[in-house]
Amino acid sequence: MRIEDPESTLGLMTTPSAVPAPTTSTWRLLDVPRISSLDAPEAWMYRGVAELHAAAEPADLGNADAAPTPIGLVVAMNNQDYRRRLRQVAVVDTPEGPRVVGSALLNFFVRSNPDLAVGVIVVHPEYRRQGIGTALVEWLRTTAQAEGRTSVLAPVDFGPEVAAGETLAPASGIGTVSADLPGVRLAQKLGLKLQLVERRSRIDLPVAPEAVSRFEAEARAVAGDAYRVHTWTAPTPDEWIEQYAALEQALSDDEPRGGLEVESDVWDADRLRVEEATIAAKGDRYVVTAAEHVATGELAAMTMLMWNDQKPDHSDQESTVVLKAHRGHRLGMLIKAVNLREHARLRPEAQRIYTWNNEENPHMLAINVALGFVPAGGCAEFQGPL
Ligand SMILES: CC(C)(COP(=O)(O)OP(=O)(O)OC[C@H]1O[C@@H](n2cnc3c(N)ncnc32)[C@H](O)[C@@H]1OP(=O)(O)O)[C@@H](O)C(=O)NCCC(=O)NCCS
Repeated sequence: MRIEDPESTLGLMTTPSAVPAPTTSTWRLLDVPRISSLDAPEAWMYRGVAELHAAAEPADLGNADAAPTPIGLVVAMNNQDYRRRLRQVAVVDTPEGPRVVGSALLNFFVRSNPDLAVGVIVVHPEYRRQGIGTALVEWLRTTAQAEGRTSVLAPVDFGPEVAAGETLAPASGIGTVSADLPGVRLAQKLGLKLQLVERRSRIDLPVAPEAVSRFEAEARAVAGDAYRVHTWTAPTPDEWIEQYAALEQALSDDEPRGGLEVESDVWDADRLRVEEATIAAKGDRYVVTAAEHVATGELAAMTMLMWNDQKPDHSDQESTVVLKAHRGHRLGMLIKAVNLREHARLRPEAQRIYTWNNEENPHMLAINVALGFVPAGGCAEFQGPL
C-alpha cells in the first residue's frame, strides 16, 4: 500500500506552506509511484533518482560507486513485504523535460520497530541551500507521523576526505564525523542526536593470492577439522536456507548498535527467498562462504560478497557473522579469506571491495584491517523523536 498524496501529481506546485519559496529555481515535490518496469511512463523518476545519486555521490562520498541503478531502485520499491518504502522527489522543469534534483526515501520496518521511521534525503549539489532538503524533511515528518511512527533514524553517509574543522562523536566516544557536513548540520538543526558511527573500508584488488592463502591457512590451523567450509552462489541451497536465516537473525540480534534505539529485525527462510528474488531482479550476484560445525551439522558462520555487472569496478561486502558459541576459532578470517579467493575467480575484473563496520565492533574491524581494508569514509547514524 502506498500513501497517496492528492497534490503530488505532475504540474502541481506542492511547496508546503511552512517552507519559504525557493529563491533561485522553481521546484515541486512529487510522489513516486511503484512501477513494474523501466518501460512505465513514470520510469523517468527512477532514472532521475539514479542520476541524482550519480551526481551527488562524487561530491559527498568521493565517487559514485554506491549510486543505485534505475532497475535496482524499481525493484527495491516493489519489495515491500518486510520494509515498507515511500519516496518523494523534488523536480525542476528543463527544456529536456522534468529533472529530479532531490529525493527522500522513507522506510518502515514491517515486522519489528513499530515506532521507527528511517529517512534518507539527498539533494543535487547544484540545488542545495534552496529549501529543498527542508521541504523533503517536512514530507518525511508528516508522512511518518501519519503512519504512527514516533522516532526517526537518519543515516548521513560521508566520504574519505577528513575535514580539518570541528568533529562530532556519539556518546560512546567511538568514531567521529565532521560537524561541517551539510547532512550533519541538517540533522543537528532537527534536534537529532548522533548515536553511532559506522566505518566504510575499501580494499584495492587484486589481493595477492599468496596473502589470501596465508590468511586461510593460518585460520584453518586454529579452526582445525571441527569445521567444514561451503561456498555457493545464488540460490542458497535448500539444505542451508533455514540455518542461513538463523545466521542472519543472529547478526541482527548481536550487532552492536551504540546508542541507537533499534530492535533487531525478524529473519526466516521465506524472507531470504524474497530477498533472493529481489537480488536476482536487480541483476545483483553474490558469493557466500559458510562454515559448518562438523559434529552437529550446524552452520556456525557465513559471509557474503555482492556485485552488479552494471557497476564493474567494485563489489560490496554484505553480512558476515559467526555464532556466539563458535567464536574464537578464527572462523571469521577463514570464511572471509575463502570468499575473497572465490570472488577473485568469479569477478577478476573488480578493482575494489567496500565493507561497512560499526566502529563499536572491534573484532570485525580487526579482521578487515588484517586483510588490508583501509578507511574510506563512513556513516553517521542520527536518531531522535519525530
Ligand atoms: C543535507 C541536504 C539533504 C540538505 O539539502 P538542502 O536542499 O541544501 O537543504 P536546505 O536548503 O533545506 O537546508 C536545510 C538546513 O540544513 C543545514 N545545512 C545544509 N547545508 C548546509 C551547509 N552547507 N552549511 C550549513 N548548513 C547547512 C542548514 O541548517 C539548513 O537550514 P538553513 O538554511 O535554515 O540554515 C543536502 O546537503 C544533501 O543532499 N547532502 C548529502 C546527503 C545527506 O547528507 N543527506 C542527509 C542524510 S538523511
